[in-house]
Amino acid sequence: MDHIFQASRQWERIQDRWITEDAAGDLTNLKSDTRNYKLSLWDPTTNGIRYLKTLTYHLGMLSSAEELERIRRTPNREIGSPITVRCQGETLCLDYLQATFEVGFIESAIDLNGARVMEIGAGYGRTCHMIMSNHDISGYCIVDLPNTLELSRAYLREALDEDRYKLIDFVPVDSLGSGAVRSERFDLCINIHSMTEMSPDTVSAYLDLIDETCSAFYVKNPVGKYIDPSLDGYLQGQEAVQMALENGPLRQLLDIHDSEAVQGAVPAFIAGYRPGEDWDCVGDSRALPWSYLWQALYKKAARP
Ligand SMILES: C[S@@+](CC[C@H](N)C(=O)[O-])C[C@H]1O[C@@H](n2cnc3c(N)ncnc32)[C@H](O)[C@@H]1O
Repeated sequence: MDHIFQASRQWERIQDRWITEDAAGDLTNLKSDTRNYKLSLWDPTTNGIRYLKTLTYHLGMLSSAEELERIRRTPNREIGSPITVRCQGETLCLDYLQATFEVGFIESAIDLNGARVMEIGAGYGRTCHMIMSNHDISGYCIVDLPNTLELSRAYLREALDEDRYKLIDFVPVDSLGSGAVRSERFDLCINIHSMTEMSPDTVSAYLDLIDETCSAFYVKNPVGKYIDPSLDGYLQGQEAVQMALENGPLRQLLDIHDSEAVQGAVPAFIAGYRPGEDWDCVGDSRALPWSYLWQALYKKAARP
């Protein structure tokens, strides 16, 4: 009868390898070594997908009906095999959850119907995809580096119907010097997680371009820089870290997982991304789910 209370084969193995006889000998790293990875936590160095799915699921379950509806109206999200979960009847990935939060923030202050939008650094085009699937935009201009531009062109051609796709103008950065875009007018410029990866001079040139051509600006970027090898083991090497530290308008170091340090960096963020003197910040907040990404929306005051 005693036998029934004994360890299963699974736990015999765990006791052989991790929670061994001398497991209690030294508590120094108990909560961040393999002992705790068999007790309370999964090893974060090998469970990235599990943690990503957990985060995605959590955001999906917390999303409002309106946020989910925006995602539902955005077709063909399965292109490119995203890592997904299912919540409240919808297949969700972190990219489009972020997109619905971003577009929701923009919609709260800007009427996108009939708007002309310019996006600088669009990645594969998730934000454009969602905006065009939810609004009758009159034109969408993507400014990007040539290779990424080819990627967004290929992705959006598959994701959008022909009529919407035709409204997109793909502008390579090298054509900006010869005046492309300068004579145009946009109701909104969008920059998401990309000015932080450009040289300070490039950011300044883009802010001038926005000042000249746009009447509103949505920005979502980090509030500063950080040094924390525990996050990714500096897998891309020291040089990549160095390059990241020298880019963007906000280069002060902070602990990005300290909410007070992040809040303290917000005034410099609002000032650093303001395109010019005539611009007012009409709203800002933390950009979910990241601790250190902030979003702000600026509007240009109408000249008398
Ligand atoms: C980290 S990705 C972010 C993509 C997208 N906004 C998103 O959040 O999914 C950075 C983007 O900025 C673009 N980029 C980098 N340097 C640029 C430059 N000098 N001018 C325009 N775009 C640039 C990249 O090609 C890429 O599209």
